Amino acid sequence: MGDVTVRVNGTPHSLDVDSRMSLLDLLRERLGLTGTKKGCDHGQCGACTVLIDGRRAVSCLALAVAQDGADVTTVEGLAADGALHPLQAAFIERDAFQCGYCTPGQLCSAAGMLGEAGPSVVTEDLTADPPLSAAEIRERMSGNLCRCGAYVNIVAAIGDVAAAGGAADMATAVTGTAR
Ligand code: FES
Ligand code: FES
Repeated sequence: MGDVTVRVNGTPHSLDVDSRMSLLDLLRERLGLTGTKKGCDHGQCGACTVLIDGRRAVSCLALAVAQDGADVTTVEGLAADGALHPLQAAFIERDAFQCGYCTPGQLCSAAGMLGEAGPSVVTEDLTADPPLSAAEIRERMSGNLCRCGAYVNIVAAIGDVAAAGGAADMATAVTGTAR
């Protein structure tokens, strides 16, 4: 067992946790935040993606005791003051889900992705900040699987937010980092 103090969606929590417990299980089983989903529990599907200190991470592979002092944002923390995060609104507008099981992870991953800078493996011009084209979005979101195959609309929804020109501001608001 070990003590961990972690801030989740702005609320601090001090807990005594099994040293083998994942952050995912801490969120779901100890804090009741079941928006974060368990898919594979092996770091392969992205359903459990959250933001840790503004960076996206699969919470099934993050040990809870290692998060002492961390600032965690889950899907429950994306909406501010009762207003949907622009990504959430875009997912609804674009019908970017079917069963919805992957959606919390897709949203958190996209929020983190919008705050990331630098080229990806599909970037052609390595000397310029790459625009978030569909190819870039697909590559950068490739760690988030959707068994329903809603990828076309997921990419469109993220593209809408990026194209709105406020992507950096939106990402900064959630992750604390600017793209
Ligand atoms: S449940 Fe964590 S990556 Fe699948
Ligand atoms: S919407 Fe069903 S798994 Fe993605």
